[in-house]
Amino acid sequence: MKSKEELKDAFDIPVAERKYFNETIQINKKNILLSLSFLLLLFSISVLRFSKNSIQTPLIINNIQNDNNQDASILGHLPYNEISKEKLVVIEPNIEVHIDMSEALLKMRDDAKNDGIYLVFLSGYRSINLQKEIFYSLKSIRNQVASERARVSAPPGYSEHSTGFAIDIGDANNRETDFEVEFENTDAFKWLKKNAAKYHFKLSFNQNNKNVDYEPWHWRYEGSIEALKVFEASNRIK
Ligand code: DAL
Ligand code: ZN
Repeated sequence: MKSKEELKDAFDIPVAERKYFNETIQINKKNILLSLSFLLLLFSISVLRFSKNSIQTPLIINNIQNDNNQDASILGHLPYNEISKEKLVVIEPNIEVHIDMSEALLKMRDDAKNDGIYLVFLSGYRSINLQKEIFYSLKSIRNQVASERARVSAPPGYSEHSTGFAIDIGDANNRETDFEVEFENTDAFKWLKKNAAKYHFKLSFNQNNKNVDYEPWHWRYEGSIEALKVFEASNRIK
């Protein structure tokens, strides 16, 4: 590009030579425009590539998370953190549950009672240490290998009971069916099957489970965002 001095000098040169000078300025202008267009093109390509990457990233992360959740399961059980003590509430002797589900659970029992059905709570929150006892001690006493034991009991750190959002329920009039598949023939189970969803309870282990046996007595609460988050992976896989 010509400097101010050179431009000024241009008017000092003879008229015949000014044409060449003007053409040089035109060519320089063209070059500048071409360079600017090229830079604009480069910039647009970069912007497009960047936005494409930002759209894809969450999908990639989701896929990794899905795989991790699948990989994290042990013998058909997903990992669960233990609920913090301050979120636990005692609803009757030996039965503690997550405070967020206590109201719905007690209301369900009351409403069942009004229908002539007497629900019994058999087991609520279980610490990871207690789950350890249940898993390893009984596994040893019953001479079971881990996969056999895991069909009926989650390994420590993998039980829904440790979240405070799980409850095992029996029928007060048929206590011989406690923790037995025969519980499904009781009026209590029939009532639960028909009504539990109203109180945000869902059966965790149905007949189609591959690695864990059918447990008609084991229900989990999905009536809060926290609970839904806790069971999100399980709901996605099953
Ligand atoms: N019985 C269920 C699988 C548990 O131990 O959490
Ligand atoms: Zn249970």
